[in-house]
Amino acid sequence: MKWNAELYDDKHAFVFQYGESVLELLDIKPGERILDLGCGTGHLTNEIKNHGADVVGIDGSAEMVGRAAKSYPGIDFLVNDATDFGFDEPFDAIFSNATLHWIHEPDKAIKCVYNSLKPGGRFVAEMGGKGNMQQMIAATQQVLEKYGHSALAKKQAWYFPSLAEYTGKLEKAGFRVTFAAHFDRPTLLQDGRAGVEKWLNMFGAIFFEGIEEIEMQQILAEITDILEPDYNDNGEWYADYVRLRFVAVKE
Ligand code: BEZ
Repeated sequence: MKWNAELYDDKHAFVFQYGESVLELLDIKPGERILDLGCGTGHLTNEIKNHGADVVGIDGSAEMVGRAAKSYPGIDFLVNDATDFGFDEPFDAIFSNATLHWIHEPDKAIKCVYNSLKPGGRFVAEMGGKGNMQQMIAATQQVLEKYGHSALAKKQAWYFPSLAEYTGKLEKAGFRVTFAAHFDRPTLLQDGRAGVEKWLNMFGAIFFEGIEEIEMQQILAEITDILEPDYNDNGEWYADYVRLRFVAVKE
């Protein structure tokens, strides 16, 4: 997936703003060595540094890493695949916000995390959980089917596991899960009604590959109409986010 790092910062700041409460769960101690897995444009990586940690950020997108490195030149940012990374010097903790649902081979990512932690090190993360964006996805599939784009409607863009599924994988890999929660978090979209289209343009491009611009506009308008009764709360539009959060310790 190709990312527009500027648009991400400009219109989707909620992604890292919500991530700040995941940082509380990380409970950073000054001097700790921490990896930010899926660092995006680096804002949370910088917060980790501001807590006194020695931090490295990795992301699969060169666009994101480029922007992060420009914004925070004092931090090491690397382009790295979440399912294929390793470091000579292990970490005290690995943090990840809103990234793991992009990883379709979770066991590989969990293995890389495990191998990159010190014994006793912790993996603290938030991702989309089972049911995340169910209404947005259903509306998108419904309209794509209506316009004859069945193959696009069937695309599996993300991986939103249940709590049992993901914590089971963590345990199988050798982690002890000390905290896990699966909860609804309606998330305010920027720019009201236009927020649905902006969200899909930013994150859901896989559903619209090859569709002409004019048809795309009609499709997006119809998706927005379907979502309006559930998303529009007195002019503020909330997406049906469902989160999975956990803390897992390398035994
Ligand atoms: C999420 O944070 O839940 C999310 C973000 C982009 C695409 C899909 C899910």
